[in-house]
Amino acid sequence: MSKETNRVLGHADESDGIEEYDNPLPDWWLGLFWFTIIWAFGYGIHYHFIANRSQESELAAEMAAADARWPTQAEAMAAALSEFAVTAEAVTAGEAIFTQYCVACHSADLSGGIGPSFLDEEWVHGGQAADILRTITEGVPDKGMVPWGGILSPEQINQVGAYVMSKHSEATGRSIEDIVAAGAPSA
Ligand code: HEC
Repeated sequence: MSKETNRVLGHADESDGIEEYDNPLPDWWLGLFWFTIIWAFGYGIHYHFIANRSQESELAAEMAAADARWPTQAEAMAAALSEFAVTAEAVTAGEAIFTQYCVACHSADLSGGIGPSFLDEEWVHGGQAADILRTITEGVPDKGMVPWGGILSPEQINQVGAYVMSKHSEATGRSIEDIVAAGAPSA
């Protein structure tokens, strides 16, 4: 603090009596001041040119993360369908789901009631695996079939679908391969 002169600049008359000393800035303050300027250059060069970041790329990365975290129902269905298989475990798990959620309308033996039977050759909304899973997911709200996509997980829908298809296959003799066959959904 030895650089202080405590000389008064003498413009109190211009500034409502507030006086100003003519003292130099303290070294620590000046040091911080220059440091922030040098830091800003270094950081700016690093941000834009070395790390190659930008607000656009940051936004894009956040949107991609959000899409992965909250897929649309169509994406979730497509992802689930690619994992769909009629396995013994899926059928067993599906039977429990069917008993809990579906028997009220499709009956315990799948012969139908309020909703249609799954034991005949008739499918209102298509009889390929992709159709059946889509009908279960999206429902037919106008006709009283619940959109289960909002209630069951894609895995559970796969399981209950596998159960319905295995029972349909047993009753009609139509092979699981034919039901699951890749190719365009039939409706
Ligand atoms: C509240 C009654 C109700 C419940 C509960 C219900 N469904 Fe349905 N479901 C229906 C009705 C009604 C239809 C016929 C819709 C139509 O005619 O368009 C249907 C149609 C279907 C179809 C399409 C049949 C076809 O011919 O294309 C499938 C598959 C199906 N349901 C599966 C299920 C599964 C799996 C569950 C349980 C997770 C379930 N449903 C629970 C009423 C119900």
